[in-house]
Amino acid sequence: MAKVPTARLDKLLSSMGYGSRKDIARIAKAGGITLDASTLVDVTKRIPITPDLPHRMSVYGEALDPLAPMVILLNKPVGMTCSHNDDGALVYDILPKRWRLRDPRISTVGRLDKQTSGLLLLTDDGDLLHHATSPKRRVKKTYRVKLARPLIGTEGDLFASGRMILENEDKPLAPAELEVVSPTEALLHITEGRYHQVRRMFAATGNHVSELHREGFGGLVLSNELGPGEWRLLSEAEVALIFQ
Ligand code: URA
Repeated sequence: MAKVPTARLDKLLSSMGYGSRKDIARIAKAGGITLDASTLVDVTKRIPITPDLPHRMSVYGEALDPLAPMVILLNKPVGMTCSHNDDGALVYDILPKRWRLRDPRISTVGRLDKQTSGLLLLTDDGDLLHHATSPKRRVKKTYRVKLARPLIGTEGDLFASGRMILENEDKPLAPAELEVVSPTEALLHITEGRYHQVRRMFAATGNHVSELHREGFGGLVLSNELGPGEWRLLSEAEVALIFQ
């Protein structure tokens, strides 16, 4: 049987953003940390890190935050930036404040532009982030695109050709699939994540993307369950869908 990992109480809580190790010692001394209803005062005690720990441990009467690794599904609203340190509203502002202090830190899986909405994943799992964004894995991303002008009709073939080259680049784009919904609306499935890729693809056809919303990432779909700015943690089975 696999050995259960353990961590010192102060190190564990500090890595989860509850404060410095000194802060944790203070909280413990004040009786603020419990495990299975007993108060933990000795912060040097090693705690077995089992998946049920958040249900068994509380800090100041609240259940412990989720353990690493975690994957968050967020419906990104327009107007927020996928950056840790930019002016203005950041997607990280949506999550609990303490989570900004976690180590390993939580980062977005790729980025969506400030003016793009929809399915955004965030994780503290470096391997997952790497695999989900690696062009080699060809994870499919689906965008709903609203256009300023009607489609001309040749976009689908151009995007599917594998020969389209964006301005200031020399490597052709991987084939992408266009599904026309109406003259000014389409779904676009791409497997890369180049800078402003969807907007630049349509700009190259003389059009302008007026609204961009990501609906799918791998086998994950953003249903109506999450409104703009709402988020939830993904289960292991859902995380596996990313690579489906
Ligand atoms: N393509 C874009 O142009 N913007 C995004 O946010 C995502 C893909």
